[in-house]
This record gives sequence, C-alpha cells and structure tokens, in this order.
Amino acid sequence: MSTPSLLILPGDGIGPEVMQQVRRIIDWYGDKRGLKFEVSEDLVGGCAYDKHGTPLHDDTMAKAQEVDAVLLGAVGGPQYDTLDFSLKPERGLLRLRKEMDLYANLRPAQCFDALADFSSLKTDVVSGLDIMIVRELTSGVYFGEPRGVIKEGNERVGINTQRYTESEIARVARSAFELARKRGNKLCSMEKANVMESGVLWRDVVTEVHQAEYPDVELSHMYADAGAMQLTRWPKQFDVIVTDNLFGDLLSDLAAMLTGSLGMLPSASLGAPMENGRPKALYEPVHGSAPDIAGQGKANPIACILSFAMALRYSFDQGAEADRLEKAVEKVLADGVRTADLLQAEGAKPASTSEAGDAVLAALDASL
Ligand code: NAD
Ligand code: IPM
Ligand code: MN
Repeated sequence: MSTPSLLILPGDGIGPEVMQQVRRIIDWYGDKRGLKFEVSEDLVGGCAYDKHGTPLHDDTMAKAQEVDAVLLGAVGGPQYDTLDFSLKPERGLLRLRKEMDLYANLRPAQCFDALADFSSLKTDVVSGLDIMIVRELTSGVYFGEPRGVIKEGNERVGINTQRYTESEIARVARSAFELARKRGNKLCSMEKANVMESGVLWRDVVTEVHQAEYPDVELSHMYADAGAMQLTRWPKQFDVIVTDNLFGDLLSDLAAMLTGSLGMLPSASLGAPMENGRPKALYEPVHGSAPDIAGQGKANPIACILSFAMALRYSFDQGAEADRLEKAVEKVLADGVRTADLLQAEGAKPASTSEAGDAVLAALDASL
C-alpha cells in the first residue's frame, strides 16, 4: 500500500492547540511504529474566511476529496457570528460533510474508570459506560429546502425544513446495525414519530431494514425526548443509538457529560466504502472552538487524540494501534493527569494542553 495521506484542518480557537498534540502523535507513529503518513495542512472555518473570504476554499475541498482521511480541529468564533450566513465558519464544515457524503457520524461515549466520578451524574450511573451514537450527518433539517428568513406581511419568518428520503434513512440505519453486530448487538432508534411525518418514515424504514437484513440485532424505538431522559436516567441500557442530524447533535453533547467532559468525545464521519474498500472519512472532536479558553493552553486534547485513534481503526486498518493509543489515554487519566475541564479538587494544578500531550506520548513510549 502507498503511504496513506492525511489532510489536517486545525481550524479556529482551540482547534490548532489540540491538533498540535495530534501532530506529535502522528510523528510518534512514524518514528516508533513505522506507520508513516503523508500529511498536508490547510485552512477551514474563520481562518479560511480571513485569508480567502470563504470558510472553505475550493482547492481545500478538492484536497479533502483526494486524501485517505481528513482530521479537523474545530471551527467558529464570536468574531464571525455576524457574517452573512453563507460565510460563517460552520458552513465550511457543513460543506465538507455534504460534498464528501459523510452520512454516518459515529460518536462514541465511553466513561474511563478514572473519570467515573467526574460526571455530573452519580458514579454508578456512568461507570463502565460504553455507548455509540450514530448521527445522520448529511440531511435532515440541516440541509432541507426551503430554508431562509423571508418576509410575510410585516413579519420576518425563519424557515428550515426537515426532509429525509428512505434511502438516506436506510443507509445510516445499516451503518448502525453493522456496528451493533460488532458490539452488544442492540440498537435503539430515536425520532419523534408522534409529531413528525419524517419521524414516522424513519421508524418504518429502520424497521424494514431490520426485518430484511438484521433480524438478529435487538431493535427498539424511542421518542427522542424520552431518549434524552433515558440517557441521563440509566445510560447503560443503550448499546448503539441511531438518530437524525439534529437530535444526534443534541444527544451527543448530552452524552459527553456522561464521560466527564465535552473535551473527551471523539467522532468519525464516514461515507460509503470506495473502490479500495475504505470509506471517505473525516475525524473530529465533538466539541467546538471553545472561544472562552482559546489561546490559554487549557484545552483538553483527548477528544482530538481519540479521533485520530478512530482514524487508525476505521481508515487505516490499524485496530491494534488504535487500541494502543486508547490505552495510553486511559493510563494518562489513571495516573491523574487532568486538564482544567476535568479538575474537581480545589487548588490542584491542571495539566496544560501540551503537558497532557507529553503524558500521552510517554504512555505510548511505555507501551513498546
Ligand atoms: P464549545 O464546544 O466550543 O464549548 C462549550 C464549552 O465546553 C465551553 O465552556 C468550552 O470551554 C468547553 N470545551 C469544549 N471543548 C473543550 C476542550 N477540548 N477542553 C476543555 N474545555 C472544552 O461550544 P460553543 O461554545 O457552543 O461553541 C463555540 C464555537 O464553536 C461556535 O462558533 C460553534 O459554532 C463552534 N462549534 C464548532 C464545532 C466543530 O467545529 N465541530 C462543534 C461545536 C461548536
Ligand atoms: C457539531 C457542531 C456542528 C453541528 C456545527 C459547528 C456545524 O455542533 O459537530 O456537533 O451542528 O453539526
Ligand atoms: Mn454539536
């Protein structure tokens, strides 16, 4: 196989800070494991707007289509909030997802033992938690037409449209069933079939795919509002959850707090398998650019580091190396290394972003 290629898009705010730690880990794999990557770097989000007047330059979009995987930090910032909608940093990320057709967004929420008492929920509710949220990422209300703000008489009206075709529902359902088979063999589908026609179709299509292709997987359905309640009441009842774009956005931030911090949650956004058998793929932490802590060396790099572990597993067939990196993170946490978002004890000294990176590299060295 030729050297695998990676496009790194650090983005805005804490994006470049956490990505810096991932770059050190990529170098470590090249030096110590002979796993070389051809790495290129480019702009997305507010920094791309500052340079090119657009949150994603066409050349960057074209590069993203060519590489084996994209790693993204985060986009956005208050200085861009008043920009025209089409120029906002978030549009750059949404364009990548849409044009690469990354319809299955895997957002695992795993509670590391060392952090079981860091969640805002009781320890026994979250300890040992290991769930996977599969969020549909290229359709639904994020992309449905019509959309916009129009004038109706003397009033402005804001419009977004929830729209799903059956093939869009079926393909993300298949991704979720496949994952369930490799895990606890249980899938819960969440929508609001009680109030939305698109939710009725969602439930029908998931049921059809189940009966025709995955009858061996245990399937349940839940209204998404009740699902949010169940996720905080007893999250360990779930294995894999499949849901739409907007509900998946909300439920995955909620799930982040089951693990102790939003700074812990990685994600993989995957398309259909290509000719080489691999999916088009983008890996990014679930968190945003965290303007409140940007530039202060306070950001937790673990979500971004674990996103690279997902790249090793899902894009490069390096499951054992992904395990190695995840175990290194587990060890660092067990050793008590904590960035500020994970600190509870008054007066304890938090690790900086780069000190947390140092600790992961040391744990990787120790794993050899
Ligand atoms: P956010 O995720 O940036 O921050 C929410 C809170 O979590 C903040 O208090 C922040 O300090 C904290 N936090 C987030 N990541 C952290 C980390 N790694 N370590 C320590 N603390 C962390 O969400 P927000 O404040 O609602 O949004 C800020 C900007 O980020 C907005 O412009 C938004 O659109 C954008 N955003 C981008 C992405 C992305 O690029 N994928 C995701 C979410 C939000
Ligand atoms: C996420 C973010 C994005 C989303 C924004 C930044 C476009 O919140 O990745 O969770 O809403 O999907
Ligand atoms: Mn989000």
